[in-house]
Amino acid sequence: MNILIIGMGYVGTTTGVVFAEWGHRVTGLDIDPAKVEALQKGKLYFYEPGLEELLRKHVKEQNIRFTTDTRGAIQSNDLFFICVGTPSRSDGKADLSYIKQAASDIGKYMNGYKIIVTKSTVPVTTTEKVAKWIRLSCSHPHPFDVASNPEFLREGSALYDSLNPDRVVIGSSSERASQVLSKLYQSVKCPVVFTTTRTAEMIKYASNSFLATKISYMNEVAKLCDQLGVNVKDVARGMGLDPRIGPHFLHAGIGYGGSCFPKDVKALIQTGNEYGQPLTILQKVADVNDNQPQYMVECIRERLTSLKGKKLVVLGIAFKPDTDDLRETRSFQVIHQLLLGGAEVNVHDPVAVIPKTYANQGVTQCQDVESAAKGADGIVICTDWPQYKDLNWQAIQQEMRSSNLFDGRNMLDGAKMREIGFYYHGIGYR
Ligand code: UGA
Repeated sequence: MNILIIGMGYVGTTTGVVFAEWGHRVTGLDIDPAKVEALQKGKLYFYEPGLEELLRKHVKEQNIRFTTDTRGAIQSNDLFFICVGTPSRSDGKADLSYIKQAASDIGKYMNGYKIIVTKSTVPVTTTEKVAKWIRLSCSHPHPFDVASNPEFLREGSALYDSLNPDRVVIGSSSERASQVLSKLYQSVKCPVVFTTTRTAEMIKYASNSFLATKISYMNEVAKLCDQLGVNVKDVARGMGLDPRIGPHFLHAGIGYGGSCFPKDVKALIQTGNEYGQPLTILQKVADVNDNQPQYMVECIRERLTSLKGKKLVVLGIAFKPDTDDLRETRSFQVIHQLLLGGAEVNVHDPVAVIPKTYANQGVTQCQDVESAAKGADGIVICTDWPQYKDLNWQAIQQEMRSSNLFDGRNMLDGAKMREIGFYYHGIGYR
């Protein structure tokens, strides 16, 4: 198939490379010439394990190409995936202007039958709007069908998730579009859900919001565990053995970040309000998440009496391991609060780089944890990069002025850290 991917973000780039891997001819369209130029040279502009190698292979074999030529890309392809961003507006609603632009361009330049699929996470009814926007911008009407095919990949394991999905959701009222999409996914071994565009869109939002709910629920339970001297990791393990609950996303910490959960939870809350069916649970999910970094900082303040003049080391600034993505990262909330309290802050991340705004406020990024910890009063783990488990904690402890370890991701063995000589405080876990 000749497939056009519109929007070369995380989802668009990964999807394009995977479709090329499945033997299709893929064109990646983006308005940013720098992004297109980099991708055409086989270079990723973000960090995602394994993806660059596969991108390079398919660029070299000419299975995938990248362009800024909207008209040419639309006219030379038949199956389109809209993967542009849908950022949060100030009122929490998803900003659909990039989607509308893509739909209008398709309408303006289309030259025959096309199938247009929304892959971006879009509020329920958006795919219907896409059809309307295409129709409105068509000067010479051509037949077309729309479909919704939400993406469930996780950053950090985007390639694996796309090659091995646990389900494929195809929402369309068109038999022809559904057939084309089921053929596209014929090589993957997982259930395929055929449904309406609205249901497909809802599945995506309800899934992300449910996962966010699990996290916030465990974070509230963890805070109660702190009061009761109960270990939340054991609680999560005991709960997760019940197959009705499952072991995933029960990991307490300083909350969820990234480009998806915070934005999608807010957007679903807005949809509920718009349709007169408020999602009260989800509002609490968002509130709990907003307060988690503050909770960690309060634990630090309690231990150190005051933050003023204290030197603290933040380990991990990416919103999760195996990515350099800083969107909605909880680390910034922690750093912000520490700076407000008058602390001096050093940060370390294996991949992500601290933005200039923080560097201008005196935050120093260190190349290794040992040097970052020299003379420090405490270490705060904000991202659970697995390599932090294997640090020489004994040597680090000896470098510190005062050996306090605050584990915002509950990733280390508390008892072991205490044995080394640390005061150790996780979230609902000591
Ligand atoms: C999430 C979903 O997991 C994907 O299925 C979905 O496709 C994607 O959003 C999207 O909508 O595009 P992602 O944002 O990459 O994927 O990251 P997750 O692995 O879900 O983690 C999100 C946040 O939750 C991270 O900050 C992570 O540290 C936190 N988290 C996760 C917890 O605090 N506790 C947990 O138990 C799990």
